[in-house]
Amino acid sequence: MRLPIGLKVGAFAVVVMGGYSWFANSIPQIESKPPQELSLEGGNVTQAQLVKAGEEIYHTKGTCEICHRIGQQGTRAPDLAGVGARAAKRKPGTSAKAYIIESLLAPQAYVVEGYPPIMPAVDKPPIALNRSELWALTAFLESLGGTVDVTLNDIPATAGAAAAGGGAAEVKIPGDPKQGELVFQGKGTCIACHKAGKIGASPVGPDLSQIAKIQTPDYIMKKILDPKGMGTVAGFPPGVMPQDLGTRLAAKEYVDLVAFLLTLK
Ligand code: HEC
Ligand code: HEC
Repeated sequence: MRLPIGLKVGAFAVVVMGGYSWFANSIPQIESKPPQELSLEGGNVTQAQLVKAGEEIYHTKGTCEICHRIGQQGTRAPDLAGVGARAAKRKPGTSAKAYIIESLLAPQAYVVEGYPPIMPAVDKPPIALNRSELWALTAFLESLGGTVDVTLNDIPATAGAAAAGGGAAEVKIPGDPKQGELVFQGKGTCIACHKAGKIGASPVGPDLSQIAKIQTPDYIMKKILDPKGMGTVAGFPPGVMPQDLGTRLAAKEYVDLVAFLLTLK
């Protein structure tokens, strides 16, 4: 038996709303919870339901709020208020809808001035949204000042492939997270500038408590070796993160450290 789609979306909303809470302090935190899968394919869904589902994904599984805010500058990313309107003017010849979809699937194709190219493709791990979720999220972003006109067919069939079939392959780093935590606190001196879960409190650099939830292992690894080359996280001073960690840390210390950072979610 198949549930009517409205009911599915409704149930999704209740589950997500129930599990969701966030702490409105200066350091964005999103409560950890098992990802919900939203499937809207093949059903009738009203535009209002779609926008609402997209808003919930924005607040929860999308983890967008670790970087973005609406109506306020985020720690790491542009304010998304009015993005539905300005999306039409970002790239000449590209519609608002096409721009928004591109900014989710290929964020590096157009990098907003003043920001580093650190947004991960949200249909890939660690965020790994599926096609329905991308559809709903696009509708929600369009609703922020623009016209909601996205259909499921606008989302490329290949999008979210990593999310299909129950989740993304975990990247295995052959390091020891316990040893890595010691490197974080000791030789790496990371703790002088970063908070990471229960350890640390310094606000000099971004809070890394959920870094593995929003960033790829690739970004995390490169950021340690070449902080400047990876761009400066918005709202933080450039050139403060030491540039010589790659030469100061032994290979094993580096791998252990990365393994530790990948536990932060
Ligand atoms: C790791 C931080 C990070 C996460 C997580 C993140 N973004 Fe971004 N996003 C950015 C940054 C930085 C930019 C600006 C640079 C660029 O254009 O790539 C950006 C740009 C954008 C833009 C273009 C804005 C404009 O004014 O043109 C949109 C739309 C957007 N993000 C939506 C989202 C959504 C929706 C999510 C959640 C599914 C998300 N982002 C998750 C960092 C992030
Ligand atoms: C002297 C202060 C300082 C030290 C020490 C330091 N960092 Fe940073 N780090 C920063 C600052 C400031 C930023 C943000 C500006 C930038 O992007 O360069 C940053 C950014 C980062 C980011 C990117 C965060 C994001 O949200 O995208 C990661 C990951 C990171 N640091 C990891 C580390 C690790 C691991 C160590 C220890 C090996 C370390 N840092 C040591 C200051 C520091």
